[in-house]
Amino acid sequence: MATMQDNQTWSGRFNEPVAELVKRYTASVDFDKRLALFDIQGSLAHAQMLAHCNIISAQDLQDIQRGLAQIENEIINGDFVWLLDLEDVHLNIEKRLTTLVGDAGKRLHTGRSRNDQVATDIRLYLRSSIDDIILLLKAMQTSLLNLAQHHTHTIMPGFTHLQVAQPVSFAHHLMAYFEMCQRDVERFSDARHRVNRLPLGAAALAGTSYPIKREFVAELLGFEAVCQNSLDAVSDRDFAIEFTACAALVMTHLSRLSEELILWMNPRFGFIDIADRFCTGSSIMPQKKNPDVPELVRGKTGRVNGNLVALLTLMKGQPLAYNKDNQEDKEPLFDTVDTLTQTLRIYADMMTGITVKPEAMRRAALQGYATATDLADYLVKKGLPFRDAHEAVALAVRYAEQKNCDLAELKLEELQEFSNLISDDIYAVLTLEGSLAARNHTGGTAPQQVEAAIARARKLLAG
Ligand code: ARG
Repeated sequence: MATMQDNQTWSGRFNEPVAELVKRYTASVDFDKRLALFDIQGSLAHAQMLAHCNIISAQDLQDIQRGLAQIENEIINGDFVWLLDLEDVHLNIEKRLTTLVGDAGKRLHTGRSRNDQVATDIRLYLRSSIDDIILLLKAMQTSLLNLAQHHTHTIMPGFTHLQVAQPVSFAHHLMAYFEMCQRDVERFSDARHRVNRLPLGAAALAGTSYPIKREFVAELLGFEAVCQNSLDAVSDRDFAIEFTACAALVMTHLSRLSEELILWMNPRFGFIDIADRFCTGSSIMPQKKNPDVPELVRGKTGRVNGNLVALLTLMKGQPLAYNKDNQEDKEPLFDTVDTLTQTLRIYADMMTGITVKPEAMRRAALQGYATATDLADYLVKKGLPFRDAHEAVALAVRYAEQKNCDLAELKLEELQEFSNLISDDIYAVLTLEGSLAARNHTGGTAPQQVEAAIARARKLLAG
């Protein structure tokens, strides 16, 4: 009769051992051992259910609990010996359990398969990662608010096409990123519901003939629901793809901010400085101070986007149900979690190391005719149709450009050449402060509105 031999769970069916190269090619323990504590958590819940349903004895359960507790300690203390021969995290732990507690260990796998087991482990892992990431996103939001709070009156040029467009406050600009991060939090919270469902009980693909209670396991593990179809439960990784898409969006947002920090730190902008501890020098050019952290964030966004594409591609050709292809989900996922958590941690800290240079921002805002729209709006309010106002102001800007001065520096008579609707109340309109104050509605850049936005944001974070 076929017996389970030392290191080969299915050896009874085979006439020759797996080739060394194949063993190394198919093994995942080097990376999936990261799931170990979640694997134990899932096994404990499964065993409890098996005992509850009288599928294993109370004594078996006790033995399993004792053995898994010891294994957990060994893993935490770094004493656990991982064997490539045992392929993956699941078989390594199961084998050790059997060594420790005998037959009870062999009974643990009753009514389950590694297919539903691994899907459960990944879901537990991702659920916990999402909780960490949401906290990190909130820390990033707090950093943004703390900086924004001091700059509702700091005026910089707002850009479109990277050309000076209209003045905005630096706080308003920062609060745009607060909003992006808030949607990121919402996206992760929403994805969490779809991650937080239990595959266990699906077994290999069709369910199991034992009288199991899946809801019991779901409750123990804090899952919101059980996966409703066994084939789907073991095979789809859409929840992992969704997670990675959420991560790619966070990285994309941070990459945009990074691009701005890099530009702003360039002396031609000179809007900010980044604390030395986040920068490096050059080995050859003594004058250099490089914004390495934002540059790397921009670069690492490519990795995470790549992980998303990898997972989508991994999934697209797979027939139901489980296929070994799915083992390839782990490295992109782990890399995504590591990259995102490290990036968020460093970013929240870096925001506290930013020195703002309001004079440089102001100088830049004064240079690009940033209040030209305000002049047009002024004319419209005096009765001129907008298109005519637009044309009048365009001519005024050309004139000022030739004189190499700002609109506000033109004499009243000069301005009146472009429209006789202009009177001396125009100068208040043409100031940067006047331009900001005029945009006084929800979402506008008026200091009063941005202060209100910051207050709303604080409340949101506290809630
Ligand atoms: N290491 C495998 C994975 O990550 C576990 C499931 C293996 N199942 C199987 N039938 N070979 O997907």
